[in-house]
Amino acid sequence: MIQKTAAPSDAATVEPHIAIAARNVTLSLGEGDARVDILRGIDLSITKGKTVALLGPSGSGKSSLMAILSGLERASGGEVNIAGADFGAMNEDQLAVARRGRVGIVLQAFHLLPTMTALENVAVPLELDGQPDPFDIAAKELKAVGLGDRLGHYPTQLSGGEQQRVAIARAMASRPTIIFADEPTGNLDGATGEKIITLLFDRQKATAATLLIITHDPELAKRCDRIIELRDGLIERDSAA
Ligand SMILES: Nc1ncnc2c1ncn2[C@@H]1O[C@H](COP(=O)(O)OP(=O)(O)OP(=O)(O)O)[C@@H](O)[C@H]1O
Ligand SMILES: [Mg+2]
Repeated sequence: MIQKTAAPSDAATVEPHIAIAARNVTLSLGEGDARVDILRGIDLSITKGKTVALLGPSGSGKSSLMAILSGLERASGGEVNIAGADFGAMNEDQLAVARRGRVGIVLQAFHLLPTMTALENVAVPLELDGQPDPFDIAAKELKAVGLGDRLGHYPTQLSGGEQQRVAIARAMASRPTIIFADEPTGNLDGATGEKIITLLFDRQKATAATLLIITHDPELAKRCDRIIELRDGLIERDSAA
């Protein structure tokens, strides 16, 4: 009789060129009658250095999936491997450490700390992570997004587009393998949003990062290497498939 052995965990042993590997990822919140199945079995593999658009109707689970892939939230089930780290097996403290250098996040609301200057908003997270020369790195990142002359400005002294540039500089400062952007132009007018997208792609190319961007804009999606569409917590269409 042939003995069955447990299959090795795919999430623990992904190929080095894979940035994101998800297998049968589920997310359910609430109990009993209040239970909501938000993600219902996501399988996904994204190669390093690629740009990927995540599309889908409101409520389809885009932000939830991004929260799991970026280590902000834990999946209810399945396997998640992010740049070689088995996120699915980690507790919240371990995730916080593993995110460093792997994950940069840009959100619709810029989430800058109002009591800190642009320079401090970028430098302080680096400093807390124990990075040497956090203020030098932060100044370089802010120059790279065109804000070299705004280092001492507070968020209220910056336009929406400038605030999003600071958020991009902050996301890039730890040289993440993957940039996650959730509707990064949602709070900006069309022309400013266009500049922010161009900047995001420029920074992605300059650092060879992987970019996963949630958008409702089909034109933006077309600029990406790959388009993934979610519906009701499942991948409905994947241009790479
Ligand atoms: N904390 C929560 N408790 C219960 N349900 C939640 C919670 N967070 C999100 N949901 C539900 O999960 C589903 C997916 O939400 P999610 O925010 O991921 O959608 P989305 O695709 O990003 O939508 P949008 O385009 O509007 O941003 C929605 O039906 C939402 O109501
Ligand atoms: Mg969302």
